[in-house]
Amino acid sequence: LRTIRLNLKERSYDIIIGSDLLKKAGRLIRKVDPGTDAVVITNEKLLALYGKKLARSLVEGGYSVKFETVPDSEKAKSARVALNLASRIARYDRRKSLFIIAFGGGVVGDIAGFVAAMYKRGVPYIQIPTTLLAQVDSAIGGKTAIDLPIAKNLIGAFYQPRMVISDIGLLETLPTRQLANGLAEIIKYGIIKDARLFKFLERSYAKILLHDASALEYAIQRSARIKARTVESDEFDKTGVRAILNYGHTIGHAIEAACGYSSRYSHGESIAVGMAVAAAISVELGIMEPAEAGRIKALIQRSGLPVLFSGLSLHKIFKALLHDKKFIQGTIRLILPVSIGRVRLVDDVPEKIVKKAIEKSAR
Ligand SMILES: NC(=O)c1ccc[n+]([C@@H]2O[C@H](COP(=O)([O-])OP(=O)(O)OC[C@H]3O[C@@H](n4cnc5c(N)ncnc54)[C@H](O)[C@@H]3O)[C@@H](O)[C@H]2O)c1
Ligand SMILES: [Zn+2]
Repeated sequence: LRTIRLNLKERSYDIIIGSDLLKKAGRLIRKVDPGTDAVVITNEKLLALYGKKLARSLVEGGYSVKFETVPDSEKAKSARVALNLASRIARYDRRKSLFIIAFGGGVVGDIAGFVAAMYKRGVPYIQIPTTLLAQVDSAIGGKTAIDLPIAKNLIGAFYQPRMVISDIGLLETLPTRQLANGLAEIIKYGIIKDARLFKFLERSYAKILLHDASALEYAIQRSARIKARTVESDEFDKTGVRAILNYGHTIGHAIEAACGYSSRYSHGESIAVGMAVAAAISVELGIMEPAEAGRIKALIQRSGLPVLFSGLSLHKIFKALLHDKKFIQGTIRLILPVSIGRVRLVDDVPEKIVKKAIEKSAR
């Protein structure tokens, strides 16, 4: 069991990482005393897999428990689902001592966190992330959101959880493609901040894809620490520090938008291509050595993630990039790697170079 403290004055909280933590969740939560009545927001699949175990643990901790489920897709992050949840929660909220538990991947975490932020202008919530992506990224940092038809995550709030409980055992039932999805973000942390983590991944990527508990624990803990430290220095995404987490994401988001957020490219797969393209741009601009970019590309590929894309319209990708607020008058603002473990915000990347690099990545 390992605890990482995320320091934000009165909004500080612990990220607890370990095996078999679900059993202890009820007792762990007591430390932050969020209320007496737990509303667990999850989906049907996770309810079937782990509902009983979580309920038992919460009852043991002295809590009353009510489960609410949302659809198992990005569609759950909608205004309709959020208002529906709030109405159901209001009916249960008799003793005025209610708190929310987000039990799921990033979709559940984002909608549950959003409802926690909005219901009665904020009730306490706990994150129990169940995907690798959520354990290393989305459950940490307090960004909550729902989508609008025009774009993802347009409505949201910064609202920090009271605790994050990352049980590595929960990942045993996670399909390999979902592990790779989270691994893409871990590779990102290595490139932006942690050359040792990157080296570890070069040796141990296969272990992670095979659910090896100790490899997962090491990678999750290093990643969670980087995310926590970054959020501490820029909670509201204002100073530019938090922007480094966007490495690979500007181009990645354009790919996601071009495929209409279908399952053709997962978020991790899209940012994998985005990270490879950004590394190529870095080499083109003379910011990074070609050999370093080669290591980035090789690790992405060995992890079962793409560095090229196919079946997408270049026109749509460029259009999505142009709509991105980071694109300014013929130049684009990108996070580019300098070396493994270090990135830089480059303000004036010529549009031509970005387009050429994307064209080269089309299969
Ligand atoms: N708030 C943030 O800072 C932040 C950061 C990154 C991503 N996000 C958001 O996260 C979402 C993506 O999250 P995700 O990648 O976790 O996807 P997801 O929540 O859709 O989960 C992926 C799939 O895995 C299943 N699953 C989850 N846990 C499982 C388990 N233990 N065993 C078996 N199956 C399991 C889910 O039911 C789902 O089908 C997006 O909506 C994205 O916008 C938010
Ligand atoms: Zn991401």
